[in-house]
Amino acid sequence: MSHIFTETRPCSILVLNGPNLANTGLRQPEIYGSQGLDDIPALVERLLGERTKRIALDFFNSNSEGALIDRLEQARSEGVHGVAFNAGAYTHTSLALADCIAWIGIPVVEVHISNVFARQERIRRQSFMGAHVLGIISGFGLWSYALAVQALYAALADE
Ligand code: DQA
Repeated sequence: MSHIFTETRPCSILVLNGPNLANTGLRQPEIYGSQGLDDIPALVERLLGERTKRIALDFFNSNSEGALIDRLEQARSEGVHGVAFNAGAYTHTSLALADCIAWIGIPVVEVHISNVFARQERIRRQSFMGAHVLGIISGFGLWSYALAVQALYAALADE
């Protein structure tokens, strides 16, 4: 899995967001905080510093399961190196998304803004995709995305 990434041959990471996440910042700020998804690039830069220059970030959001699968398939054909994926509630319900992650051959880090294991509803502790991802980052607010990018970069660059 190890690659050499440079400014001209960067590590491509897709930040993928599922249902109800486009309104992060407005939606239940007591759970999801008051920052929006637009703040993610700045957080990645703060965490990764100079290494940010060797990372090409791409973003995609959709409320639909099918569109998320289409985007993952597209990532495979584009040769994307890694995906930081917050599938929202589909994490807990979607066998279709789990099946997709299982075959596309791209390392995926599952991301959650809240700590899903500390939430009241028991279903939030279940993840269909969990068996097929590199790891899970949950509970660090918007920093969860930056931490996922850092984890992917470290794994891909074999740091
Ligand atoms: C979430 C947690 C999920 O349980 C929930 O359905 C979401 C957001 C999170 O980022 O904490 O929509 O994935």
